[in-house]
Amino acid sequence: MKIAIIGATGLVGREMLKVLEERKIDFSVFLPVASGRSAGKHLQFNDHHYTVIGIQEALEARPEIAVFSAGAATSLKWAPEFAGRGTVVIDNSSAWRMDPDVPLIVPEVNAGILNHDHRIIANPNCSTIQLVMVLAPLHKVYGIKRVVVSTYQSVTGSGAKAIRQLENERKGISGNRTFPHVIDLNLIPEAGGLAEDGYTTEEIKLVNETRKILNDEHIKLTATAVRVPVYGGHSEAVNIEFEKDFKLKEIRDLLSHQPGIVVEDDLAGHRYPMPLNSRGLDDVFTGRIRRDFSVASGLNLWIVADNLRKGAATNAIQIAEYMIHQKIVS
Ligand code: A2P
Repeated sequence: MKIAIIGATGLVGREMLKVLEERKIDFSVFLPVASGRSAGKHLQFNDHHYTVIGIQEALEARPEIAVFSAGAATSLKWAPEFAGRGTVVIDNSSAWRMDPDVPLIVPEVNAGILNHDHRIIANPNCSTIQLVMVLAPLHKVYGIKRVVVSTYQSVTGSGAKAIRQLENERKGISGNRTFPHVIDLNLIPEAGGLAEDGYTTEEIKLVNETRKILNDEHIKLTATAVRVPVYGGHSEAVNIEFEKDFKLKEIRDLLSHQPGIVVEDDLAGHRYPMPLNSRGLDDVFTGRIRRDFSVASGLNLWIVADNLRKGAATNAIQIAEYMIHQKIVS
C-alpha cells in the first residue's frame, strides 16, 4: 500500500500526518507531496525522515490512495490524473464536492455508499462535517424540516496566514491581512468568498453539502457564517424544527450513543462544548440542548469540533481507513 498526502506541508496536511500516525494506518510507502517551493525539504513522520516530492513524481509512483489538501485548483487539475491511473483520491478541497458522480462522505453517516467504482471521494467542508454528525441521527428518528445555523469559525480554517494575522495583531505588528478587517477582539460576518443573493460560499456549502450527505433535498437550511478570533475549533448555534415531536432525554440519549459524538450538557455546572477544549481532538461535541418554545417540535443546540481534525484531516483519513478495511482499496 502506497499512500500520498498532497499538501503534506500545509496546515491540514500536517494534521493528516499526525492522524495517520495515531491511527496506525498500515502502508509500506509514504509519499509527502507539496509545491515546487517545498520539494526536496525534509519532513519527520513515524520516526522516519521523508523528502518532500512534487506531484508529478507522486503520480508516477501510482499510489493506491492519494489524500489531497492543496486547494481546489490543484485538485481540479490533478485528481482526475491520479484517478485515471487507478489511485483512490480523497479530496479535502471544495473542487468535487457537489459533482453528482462524486460521493461526499462523513464515515459515521454515509460511508456505506462507497464502492469499487469510486475513484474520487470528497471530504466535506469543516462546518458541514460537525453539523451532519449531529443532524444525521436526529433526522433518522424525528425527520428534520428546517435548520437555522450560525457558525463561529476559528481562524485556523483560513490557513497559516490567517493565524499569523491574528498573532501579529495581538503583538501590535503590522503585516499582511488574510481577512478584510482586524480579527483580534473582533468578529467578521464574512467567511468564505462571495456567493449569490448576499450569501458567502461557506454559507452555501453548509446548505448544499448537508442535503447531499443526508441524501434529502427537502431539508430546509439557512446559515450565517462568522469568523471569530479563536483557535481550537469551529462552533455552531443550531436551531432545528422536526416533523415529529421528541423528549429532550431521548435526544440526549440518542446523541450520546453515537460514535464520534460527545454530549457535554450541564448548564448549571457550566459544562458545554468550547473550541479550546476541542483542540486536537477527533470527537464532535454537543451541548446546550434545549427545547425551542417558539415553534412546534423545535430544538436548540450547540456543536463544537476541531476544524483541522474531524472537520478536515481526521474525516479524510477515516475515509481511507474505511476503504482499506472494506477492501474497496487494497
Ligand atoms: P507548499 O508548502 O510547498 O506551498 P495551506 O492550505 O496550509 O496553505 O497548504 C497548502 C498545501 O498545498 C501546502 O502543502 C502546499 O505546498 C501545497 N500545494 C500548493 N500548491 C500545490 C501544487 N501545485 N502541488 C502540490 N502541492 C501544492
